[in-house]
Amino acid sequence: MSGQTLPGANAPATPGGAAPGGTPQPAPAKATTPAALVSEAGMQRFAREVAKYPPEQKQSAVMACLAIVQQERGWISEQSEEFVARYLGMPTIAVHEVTTFYNMYNQQPVGRFKLNVCTNLPCQLRDGQLALEHLCTRLGVEEGGTTADGLFTVQKSECLGACADAPVMLVNDRQMCSFMTPERLDELVAMLASHAVIERAA
Ligand code: FES
Repeated sequence: MSGQTLPGANAPATPGGAAPGGTPQPAPAKATTPAALVSEAGMQRFAREVAKYPPEQKQSAVMACLAIVQQERGWISEQSEEFVARYLGMPTIAVHEVTTFYNMYNQQPVGRFKLNVCTNLPCQLRDGQLALEHLCTRLGVEEGGTTADGLFTVQKSECLGACADAPVMLVNDRQMCSFMTPERLDELVAMLASHAVIERAA
């Protein structure tokens, strides 16, 4: 492990509008109000991110806004994508493309610790697949799954940019772990589980 610091739219425009025949339609009932999806502090952070760009380029804040949503809610739901799209004045599908392109955005709830094991070729040549399989076996989950206690989610990832340290993995999208042999993986899991116990007791 590198270091021991672990653990560490056009929017659906306005709801409603007129049907082809001109008959006003009722607004769809969706829980997409700022209060339901993003805290007041989060909305202030949204505004600060948008302010970094010219008004006509506010869509450039999409990654930052998605990161804020994930920090607050743990994952990016369809409703969250719709909300961000509406806020930035861009198509919801464009937001969804960002969410699904980057590993760091969770498209479903994940465990306290998200473990991403690189399975690209350089890591594969140095037992990256073995590392992934060992982790899954050790935790009793399929790749992409979360342990029953909600502590760990195991996913494979694309190249993490540290091929010389293969096999490599990332914890919670932030902490890079290098040379992850089965023994080191077991140590890591034990350390994270211990940390979770301390967290719960605090
Ligand atoms: S291939 Fe695994 S870090 Fe590059």
